[in-house]
Amino acid sequence: MCSLVPAALLVGALLCLASSSSPAVATRSPGRTFNVLSFGAAADGVTDDSEALVAAWQVACRVPHATVLLPLGHRFLVSPVTLQGPCNTKLALQIDGTMLAPPEMGSWPKPRRPLQWLNFKWLQGFSIQGAGAVDGQSSSLQSASPATTSQRSAGHWQASGAKPTLIRFYNSFNVSVRGIRITNSPQCHLKFDSSGGIKVKNITISSPGDSRNTDGIHLQNTRDVEIRSTSIGCGDDCVSIQTGCSNIHMKNIICNPGHGISCSVGGLGKDNSLACVSDVVAESISVQNALYGVRIKTWQGGVGSVRNITFSNVRVSNVATPIIIDQFYCDRGGARCANRTGAVAISGVTYRRVVGTYSFQPVRLACSDARPCTGVSMVDVRLSPASAPEGPLRGGLCWNTYGEARGTMEPLGTGCLQRSNGYAMPLIQPFNYTC
Ligand SMILES: *[C@@H]1O[C@H](CO)[C@@H](O)[C@H](O)[C@H]1NC(C)=O
Ligand SMILES: *[C@@H]1O[C@H](CO)[C@@H](O)[C@H](O)[C@H]1NC(C)=O
Ligand SMILES: *[C@@H]1O[C@H](CO)[C@@H](O)[C@H](O)[C@H]1NC(C)=O
Ligand SMILES: *[C@@H]1O[C@H](CO)[C@@H](O)[C@H](O)[C@H]1NC(C)=O
Repeated sequence: MCSLVPAALLVGALLCLASSSSPAVATRSPGRTFNVLSFGAAADGVTDDSEALVAAWQVACRVPHATVLLPLGHRFLVSPVTLQGPCNTKLALQIDGTMLAPPEMGSWPKPRRPLQWLNFKWLQGFSIQGAGAVDGQSSSLQSASPATTSQRSAGHWQASGAKPTLIRFYNSFNVSVRGIRITNSPQCHLKFDSSGGIKVKNITISSPGDSRNTDGIHLQNTRDVEIRSTSIGCGDDCVSIQTGCSNIHMKNIICNPGHGISCSVGGLGKDNSLACVSDVVAESISVQNALYGVRIKTWQGGVGSVRNITFSNVRVSNVATPIIIDQFYCDRGGARCANRTGAVAISGVTYRRVVGTYSFQPVRLACSDARPCTGVSMVDVRLSPASAPEGPLRGGLCWNTYGEARGTMEPLGTGCLQRSNGYAMPLIQPFNYTC
C-alpha cells in the first residue's frame, strides 16, 4: 500500500505509482484510498499541501475506483493547482476535511494571479464527494473594497472580473459533485466549461451578498447537467447558464442571497458573436432576498437564440424583480453600451406557478426591437409586494413580448404579454445562423 513517510515522499510516490499501475495490483485492489496525509501533507492549514495533493492524485489517477482522501479533522492549504486526467475509471476526490485556498488570492498581482484555484481537466467519470468544506478565504477582502461607479466605467470592473474561479472543470465528462460546502470564492465558486454529463447534488455554496461577481455555479459550453438539492448564497447569479449550454435541469435549489437563476448570453467585447442556450428546466426553486428571481439577459448585438426555457414552481421572497427578460443588458453602465440592431432571439419561455413577494417590479419583459420574444407563457403567477419595500414599486412591463397568460395573474398587468401567433413577427434581420 501507499503509506509513505514524508522524507521518502518523492521516491515513495514513484515506487507506489509504478506498482499500482501494474494491472495485477489494479485488479486485485479496486477501491483503494490514497490519503494525502500519507503523501506528506502537513494538514495544519498554514503549510502548503499542494505537493502532497498532486502526488496522491498522480498515483490514484492510475488506479481504477481510487479515492484521494482529504480526511476529517484536518485543514489543507493548497496553492492553485491543476488536477488533470485522463485517469483510470471512477476516480473520486473525497473531501471530509477542509481545503483552504491561499487567503487574498483574488488580489494577487496580475502575473501571479491564477484564473482558477482548483483546475480539473480532461476527466471522465470523476466525482468530488464528502461532507467537508472548500474555503476560498476571500469574503472579507471583497466587501472591504467595493468598486465605485467611476471605477466601473473606467474599466476596473473588468479587471476585478479576472479574479480566480474557485473550482473549475474543463473538458470533463460524467462528473459529479456532492455533499461538500464551498465558500468565499474570490469569483465564481464552481464552473463547468466545455463539459457534459454533470451532476451536482446536495452541495452548499455560500458567500456574502455583497461579494461582487461571485456566481454560485457557472455553466458554459456544457450539456446534460443536473443540479439538485443545492443551497446557494452569493453576490451574483446563483446559477448562471451561458452560451453553448443545453439540456440543463435544476430542481430543489435555494438561492439566498444572490441574483437568481440566470440564462445569460452574449458578452462584453463579443458583439455579434453567436450565442445559444436551449432546453433548460428549473423547477422547485426558492429565491430569497435577491435582485432577480428567474432571469434571461442578453447583450445587444449578438446573434443566436435562447429557446425552450421553463421555470416552474418558483417561490420568491423579497426579490426585487422576480421575473425578468432583459435584452438590453449592459454592465458597463447604460452610456457605454451602444444600441445595436441585432439581438439574440428568445422563444419558448414558460413561467408556471411563480409565487411570493417582490420589492421593486413583479415582471419585466424587455425584448429587443429587432427580435421580439415569442412563445412566452405565464401560467399562475401570484406576486405581491414585500412587507417593507425600499422604494416605490413599479407595475409590470412587457416590451415586444408575445405569448399568452393563463390562470391567476396577480398583480393585474403581470400578464401584459401581447397576444399573437409568434410566427408573424416583424423580423428585421434574417435568421442567418444555426445554433
Ligand atoms: C457517461 O456515463 C454514461 C452512463 O453512465 C455512459 O453511457 C457514458 O459512456 C459515459 N461517458 C463518458 C464519456 O464517460
Ligand atoms: C448531504 O450532504 C451532507 C454532507 O454535506 C451529508 O451529511 C448528507 O447525508 C447528504 N444528504 C443526502 C441526502 O445525500
Ligand atoms: C425542452 O427542454 C426540455 C429539457 O431539456 C426537454 O425535456 C424537452 O423535450 C424540450 N422541449 C422541446 C420542445 O424541445
Ligand atoms: C438606446 O435606445 C434607447 C431606447 O430606444 C434609448 O433610450 C437610449 O438612449 C439609447 N442608447 C444609446 C447609447 O444610444
